[in-house]
Amino acid sequence: MPLRNNIARSSKKLIRKVVPLVVRKSLAKFISRQSWLSGDHRAGWSMELVRDMADKDANEYHKFLWSNHIGYADTYEISQRFGEENINESRKLLFSDMTTALTELKINYKNEIKSVLDVGSSLGYLLKHLEDNVFVCAKKLDGIDIDAQAIEKGASYLQANGSKIQLTCLDMENLTKFLSDKMYDIILCAGTVIYLEEEKAEELVKNLLQHTATMLVITGIASPENDNSELDQSKVRARDGSYIHNLDRMVNQLGGNIVFRRWQGKEMIDGNTLYFVFATPPH
Ligand SMILES: C[S@@+](CC[C@H](N)C(=O)[O-])C[C@H]1O[C@@H](n2cnc3c(N)ncnc32)[C@H](O)[C@@H]1O
Repeated sequence: MPLRNNIARSSKKLIRKVVPLVVRKSLAKFISRQSWLSGDHRAGWSMELVRDMADKDANEYHKFLWSNHIGYADTYEISQRFGEENINESRKLLFSDMTTALTELKINYKNEIKSVLDVGSSLGYLLKHLEDNVFVCAKKLDGIDIDAQAIEKGASYLQANGSKIQLTCLDMENLTKFLSDKMYDIILCAGTVIYLEEEKAEELVKNLLQHTATMLVITGIASPENDNSELDQSKVRARDGSYIHNLDRMVNQLGGNIVFRRWQGKEMIDGNTLYFVFATPPH
């Protein structure tokens, strides 16, 4: 087995060296559509073929993977995501913290929250959970995501199930026109800002905070050793090229108020580290 793994690793390295990126990108897209391959093989090969992009431009690497439903995106399917039994424990904890924070702010979230935006909503399964169980009086529930395949499948599932949720395929870097003069009571951005480099992440947080009426709920990757709030600058996680940010600083420098937060270092639940920031907009 180790010998087979070594051969596979060396062949991927050789292919990256001799085959131009443009060809490898097409090949990665092709492999990701081969349903006869196991999910692990599809993800492994398609991501590895373009892995060098992560060193040159991590932002573009993540955008390429997600917008083509490659790699991790493979597990974002209706049967694996919708339904209470499929909601990750880390997200249950996030929503429990969120409702605690809202209650402490004396907000009766079941009645008072009327609008929600989920940035990086994928199929819309978190929005559906919120619509059914948490913000039961919400009239407007919007989701945006760069993964067109997830948006299309999620939208038809939601429509067939009588949901009010509207999904739009959009890059979070281009939210300005979509947001225009809209205000949302709650903006959720879970596991998504980690795909933007520091400056772009700051820009996104600014944009989201400006359109938040009640609370911005944002999660990042927890810095394993020191609390993220102590980071002078964002770091790249070597394993997957995603970013570890100081979201506390980003919110504070915009005049936002952090009303609740969670940082649990190396601890993981369902493969997710725990770094949550709950912020209200500047007064
Ligand atoms: C790790 S998943 C998290 C999904 C969901 N928010 C959750 O917490 O379960 C990250 C999501 O962000 C989306 N995403 C990544 N880059 C994006 C971008 N530039 N614009 C919009 N969505 C993006 C992906 O398509 C994916 O659905």
